[in-house]
Amino acid sequence: MPQLIDEAADFDFIIALVYDRSRIRLHDGKQALIRARLGKRMRCHGFESFHEYCEFLRSRADEEEITHVVDALATNFTGFLRERDHFDFLVGEALPKLLGSSRRRMNVWSAACATGEEPYTVAFFLAEHYPITEGWDWQILATDISTKALGKATAGVYPDDRMTGVPPDWVRRHFQRGHGDWTGHYRVKAALRERVRFEQINLLGAYEVDREFEVIFCRNVMIYFDRSTQEQLVRHLSRYLVPKGYLLTGHSESLSGLSVGLRCLRPSVYQKS
Ligand SMILES: C[S@@+](CC[C@H](N)C(=O)[O-])C[C@H]1O[C@@H](n2cnc3c(N)ncnc32)[C@H](O)[C@@H]1O
Repeated sequence: MPQLIDEAADFDFIIALVYDRSRIRLHDGKQALIRARLGKRMRCHGFESFHEYCEFLRSRADEEEITHVVDALATNFTGFLRERDHFDFLVGEALPKLLGSSRRRMNVWSAACATGEEPYTVAFFLAEHYPITEGWDWQILATDISTKALGKATAGVYPDDRMTGVPPDWVRRHFQRGHGDWTGHYRVKAALRERVRFEQINLLGAYEVDREFEVIFCRNVMIYFDRSTQEQLVRHLSRYLVPKGYLLTGHSESLSGLSVGLRCLRPSVYQKS
């Protein structure tokens, strides 16, 4: 008798696995996306069918393989200067208010930094407004669950189609233009890359961070989590804000109705009381 394959059960298994690890809810109807994104992993192990690969994940796969699955399915969409008003707010309001006239050190955290465009945009704004050469001292922590995204972020190399929106004088000041094999690519200059520390952190895991931040960017990731997970996450993150520090969420992510002890200044801008 040919064995009947329950494809729906395989998709449910993947959806539950990804939810368990990342709290990202891949809704029903994402079957084509799941199949396409896991195709490379299947081929890498020589499996011919999606079902065989799922059986492998159920029975014998190691943690590294599970990380590949989460990496492949966690959506990493991002861009330089995305939701630009947050960066203007950072240098125009948040930092001037927090630092006053005497403090010259600050820390910013880009939690869920994807392929690095967000923390590097923070670096560009800080470099423009708080130059190290004038005695300012700042560091950026940039974290994500996806090792693949972090690999790209650490390299800091972007093809020219990712550079749209970056002002040309910033491209000149903050990027090296690629030559030879790297024609059409730009690399963030070392002086800025050195100011950004990349680390893998699962925001839903048991992590500790060794400092406090004036501003935390946690944007376009909470949208994947359910309300109680969002509440726990924001409570945990706000432990790492300095008094009166700011949390910025994605434009479509609201914390209204959550008990998190932050004051909403305007949509997607929150302040620790
Ligand atoms: C859509 S991108 C957002 C990138 C950037 N913050 C922005 O707004 O442009 C979402 C990122 O969240 C990351 N992510 C998803 N679940 C996560 C988790 N549990 N912990 C940390 N990062 C997570 C994904 O890997 C992805 O890089």
